[in-house]
Amino acid sequence: MPTTTQPRSERALVESGVKDVLRVTDERTGRTYEIPIQDGAVRAMDFRKIKEKDDDFGLMLYDPAFLNTASCKSRITFIDGDKGILRYRGYPIEQLAESCTFLEVAYLLLYGELPTADEYKEWTHNITFHTMLHESTKKFMDGFNYDAHPMGILVATVGALSTFYPEARNIQDPEIRKQQIHRLVAKMPTIAAFAYRHSRGLPYAYPDNDLSYTENFLSMLFRMTESRYAANPVLARALDVLFILHADHEQNCSTSAMRGIGSSHTDPYSAVAGAAAALYGPLHGGANEAVLTMLAEIGSKGRVPAFVKDVKEGKGEKRLMGFGHRVYKNYDPRARIIKKIADEVFEVTGKNPLLEIAIELERIALEDDYFIKRKLYPNVDFYSGIIYQAMGFPTSMFTVLFAIARTIGWMVQWEEMLLDPEQKIARPRQIYLGPRERAMFPLEKRDA
Ligand code: CMC
Repeated sequence: MPTTTQPRSERALVESGVKDVLRVTDERTGRTYEIPIQDGAVRAMDFRKIKEKDDDFGLMLYDPAFLNTASCKSRITFIDGDKGILRYRGYPIEQLAESCTFLEVAYLLLYGELPTADEYKEWTHNITFHTMLHESTKKFMDGFNYDAHPMGILVATVGALSTFYPEARNIQDPEIRKQQIHRLVAKMPTIAAFAYRHSRGLPYAYPDNDLSYTENFLSMLFRMTESRYAANPVLARALDVLFILHADHEQNCSTSAMRGIGSSHTDPYSAVAGAAAALYGPLHGGANEAVLTMLAEIGSKGRVPAFVKDVKEGKGEKRLMGFGHRVYKNYDPRARIIKKIADEVFEVTGKNPLLEIAIELERIALEDDYFIKRKLYPNVDFYSGIIYQAMGFPTSMFTVLFAIARTIGWMVQWEEMLLDPEQKIARPRQIYLGPRERAMFPLEKRDA
């Protein structure tokens, strides 16, 4: 609906189908504008019509780090950060974690409905069918140094997959898109496991397609000379639940990267490499690794108060890793579920000595005014690393595990973006504050 310079009558607005309107008066000109409100939002482009002079560019909205800007409409994941609610396609995360497998949830995210038994069988087959990597991928991975971070290997290798599947650039073809989704969900655990084996100097263990998604992953990681690796069912299930919890989280940093890169119509492998690179950072998926480093640095329960004091005095320089969230201003529901499964894992693996420090850290932080005032609660990464470590993963693998699970979320969000007729290439505006035009002098004429 166009903006007008005169307030419309209530009746005209109802007739035009717009119930809610924001009325804005520009004090520079005295003009009043009506901006329609839809789904709790106003369109930034409606503000462009607010001008001081006719040849002005019009008003822009300034929102560094997108604190209050919706970049898309989505039907995939719902979060109510104040209430601590997370739902995939309308289903509460607690129910999905309780009763589904990761592959069921992946299907739900992609198709919007939970699969029937037949659909699940076919979907599992489609994923299993694609777990192998082209042999040349192995040679590519061999080129990394023995101590290369597995996230670096993952980012590079997933990007390199685009060279093996050049047809993937036909992103407008729904069948081709679907095939790349199958491939990526299937191959990420294989790349991740190969990256781990490479860092250990171990031969790559090939996928075993008779196993479940997480059993197969554990087999590719930990199989030695046995003909078949039998994962502990409690650990395989715990990993499956952790994958469910990480599968999607609406417009986070890596998903926004995926949508942004994908909006230029690049192939999905290159876009996933970019999304995984965004995940790697310690403020995002790299936080699980950083939590363990932090807990090890604290060293003992008795040193927790001094550490918390340091964090507070650091005024944002030093952070309590695994705490705080852009959206959750309440306990992250995923952290609550992880805390529950930790007990089951520790019954098998024995307790991780860092757990005691983590629990004390949480207790002290949740009673402290600094954290209460800022609504800083444990997030998904606070306890996940402690479980991963107890399961035998080195810290450098934690973010890789996150990336495996998040791949389906990236792909589903990417496809939603491509099919959304309102989306175009992502291209934010800027407020230019640099010098105005000035004359350039050649080198010999510039004063020292
Ligand atoms: N420890 C101490 N202070 C904190 C923390 C923290 N973990 N997080 C935020 N604050 C303070 C911050 O200094 C600021 O204080 P003030 O108002 O006095 O300047 C206030 O709380 C608001 O912080 P912010 O940086 O404006 O919040 P944000 O929404 O930009 O950042 C965050 C969100 C997740 C990056 C941040 O909370 C953080 O750095 N947490 C630690 C890293 C972490 O655990 N990341 C994982 C996030 S969940 C999984 C994922 O996304 O992958």
